[in-house]
Amino acid sequence: MTIRVGVLGAKGRMGTTVCEAVSAATDCELVAALDMGDDLAQLITNKAQVVVDFTTPDSVAKNLEFLATNNIHAVVGTTGFDEKRLAVVSKQFAASSANVVIAPNFALAAVLMMKFAETAGPYFDSVEIVEMHHPRKVDAPSGTAIRTAELISKAREGMPAMPDATKDLVAGARGANVSGIPIHSIRLQGAVAHQEVVFGGPGESLTIRHDSYDRESFMPGVLLAIRRVSDFKGLTFGLESLLGLDS
Ligand SMILES: NC(=O)c1ccc[n+]([C@@H]2O[C@H](COP(=O)([O-])OP(=O)(O)OC[C@H]3O[C@@H](n4cnc5c(N)ncnc54)[C@H](OP(=O)(O)O)[C@@H]3O)[C@@H](O)[C@H]2O)c1
Repeated sequence: MTIRVGVLGAKGRMGTTVCEAVSAATDCELVAALDMGDDLAQLITNKAQVVVDFTTPDSVAKNLEFLATNNIHAVVGTTGFDEKRLAVVSKQFAASSANVVIAPNFALAAVLMMKFAETAGPYFDSVEIVEMHHPRKVDAPSGTAIRTAELISKAREGMPAMPDATKDLVAGARGANVSGIPIHSIRLQGAVAHQEVVFGGPGESLTIRHDSYDRESFMPGVLLAIRRVSDFKGLTFGLESLLGLDS
């Protein structure tokens, strides 16, 4: 049986690639490709069962409210979700017969990079994150970097503060502090999505690096979420449980 899929943000960089991937998948049918200004009611008319959202942090909340109210499963790649926004979405979908998967990164290697970084977290004195994206990205730090920092920080609970005697001469020189971990955001022409997590201990360092060279890298994860969202009740944040990586 084919899954009837709608895409929001269909004319965007990610949305365009998602439309191609859904159209090419033999078990999916693209029934609605909507962008800014299009009427969401088309999702109902065209009987979408799963809707993928790659829009903007400003637009996604209203889209999710519509999907939860109309009992349509949601797969969300749009970034900008903090705990407060996640709590709202969780409540909306708890009251819906539909489910939602929100993933800060759909690239399978990026999910593994986060898992490996979480595992390494407690074994080093220092850790910093460097993320690098194309210069049209609207938010910083990236959702992936924030999620990585949160996972590492949780794994390091109870450890002493990281050694750092530096005084900033210029504000921001040591990056943004997320859950106690510095994140440095680079915006570079020609880049797609890249991240290094650098760990330091006495006399050694470990660097875990992930590169998305092409938006195609996100598609296996997006298709996995389209296929599995109906199995995971309510809100699922991150792809880990869909991949069986939950510890
Ligand atoms: N989770 C992941 O793996 C992953 C990977 C890459 C990117 N992202 C995130 O995905 C989002 C999209 O990235 P992108 O590079 O594709 O951005 P983009 O090229 O700007 O695409 C966003 C598209 O959504 C449209 N849009 C805005 N509001 C809408 C609404 N209410 N309904 C329908 N369409 C709407 C925009 O139209 P206008 O241009 O007219 O506003 C634009 O065509 C960003 O938040 C980005 O950080 C996530």
